[in-house]
Amino acid sequence: MITRIGLLTSGGDAPGMNAGIRAVVRTAFSKGCKVIGIHRGYSGLLEQDSTEMESRSVGNIIQRGGTILRTSRCEEMREREGRVKAGRILKANDIDGLIVIGGDGSFRGAHQIFVEEGLPVVGVPGTIDNDLYGTDYTIGYDTAIETALDCIDKIRDTAASHDRLFFIEVMGHHSGFIAMDVGIAGGAEEILIPNHEVTIPQLCERIMKAMQKGKRSNIIVVAEGEKPEHTFDLAHQVQERMGIECRVAILGHIQRGGSPSATDRVLATKLGYAAVNALLEGKSDIMVGEINGKIQYTPLQDTWEKKKPINPELIDLAKIMAL
Ligand code: F6P
Repeated sequence: MITRIGLLTSGGDAPGMNAGIRAVVRTAFSKGCKVIGIHRGYSGLLEQDSTEMESRSVGNIIQRGGTILRTSRCEEMREREGRVKAGRILKANDIDGLIVIGGDGSFRGAHQIFVEEGLPVVGVPGTIDNDLYGTDYTIGYDTAIETALDCIDKIRDTAASHDRLFFIEVMGHHSGFIAMDVGIAGGAEEILIPNHEVTIPQLCERIMKAMQKGKRSNIIVVAEGEKPEHTFDLAHQVQERMGIECRVAILGHIQRGGSPSATDRVLATKLGYAAVNALLEGKSDIMVGEINGKIQYTPLQDTWEKKKPINPELIDLAKIMAL
């Protein structure tokens, strides 16, 4: 029987995590369960840094970005020893189930706690990257694309005034969801995403054709990818090859901040509520997600092993729109 639920946020913060925390705490409260809020993700769990939460401790947070529980990327959880320690600490503190709001790295940790210590765990997808299988959208994605789009619109003003070519890097370590959506919404000439690479000569040829057709400024949206300095390298190579001045804007962590959109607040509320109910119904080692408006449960392991593809129609659409 579940009466004490551990709750943590882990990995990169995402706007809407607070709405998720609020939903977990208030749903648990309505079912007579206690929630132990663990600070700083798995790092705080290993250091036993936690407090009991109640309905009032999540008042006035739904509109706030970041996470009131704070977060971390915890190296110790990559090792079996750390995960076993985490499971034992949870059990020693009489925690009967754990809810983790985060991305794939956070879910790997939760899955291992379940496998190695048998503790029930439920994941709630919270990452701006939207790169988790088992949900149409992750908490934070909607806000992040609005923030990135606002920046792109502003850069477009100066790009057009100076007849410049801008490379704008958006977040997405392994994924191109943000780049694809803001590229289309921002009217980008090119959208460069992982697994759909173009060569420098191909890119230069396309830019050249656009310029011959009368385009005086160009916006190229680039997903950050795994290589550091990736976008600077691209811009440098294009500049050398074409002899035109390029500018680079890295949008970076701005995309993770800010007050969550209504869409993110509602999604986080639904998923936080569903996570508590799933735990109480005896479900475990799953992520709660939303697909076509319905709550779905996906085995945690599938959330990172199976890939959610970028809609190929969007890729074609973006090319047509850039003509
Ligand atoms: O949370 C996901 C993410 O924002 C990625 O898009 C990005 O690559 C990474 O986090 C950055 O992480 P950090 O804040 O640790 O630099």
